[in-house]
Amino acid sequence: MDYALHCGQAEEIIAADPWYVAALSNLSALVMDSLPDLNWAGFYLLREGRLVVGPFQGKPACVHIPVGKGVCGASLERDEALNVPDVHRFPGHIACDSASRSEMVIPLHAGGRAMAVMDLDSPKPGRFSEADAAGLRRLAEVIEKGIAWERA
Ligand code: SME
Repeated sequence: MDYALHCGQAEEIIAADPWYVAALSNLSALVMDSLPDLNWAGFYLLREGRLVVGPFQGKPACVHIPVGKGVCGASLERDEALNVPDVHRFPGHIACDSASRSEMVIPLHAGGRAMAVMDLDSPKPGRFSEADAAGLRRLAEVIEKGIAWERA
């Protein structure tokens, strides 16, 4: 994936309408379409004290994830990007799709605190390189900067 190009495309998607439902829907499609070897790409949003599935591409997924649980909940709680080369070795990994073998999760911030995560799953072990992790963190920054989480 050419992350510079796709960060530009992400800015265009957000500029078209920053409302989080519209923007995150097209952003999940951008990621799924641009990165090879993914079986799920999308977002979980913090709502009433737990993560709830948001816009995504892939098979139907777990709806609720407690903060601190699974890769997504751990990433949000620790406020840290997690690159998991083998999900079977991550204590508490939540298997929404048994085909998933590696996973990358990046927290997204609003008002200075983590309140959503971007989650990417792959059927390939060790799918996400250091370059992917760095590129996806840049993409997350573009998303955080532009998104409107709620609209009056
Ligand atoms: N595997 C994740 C759950 C979400 S699905 O992968 C879409 C986790 O452990 O948090």
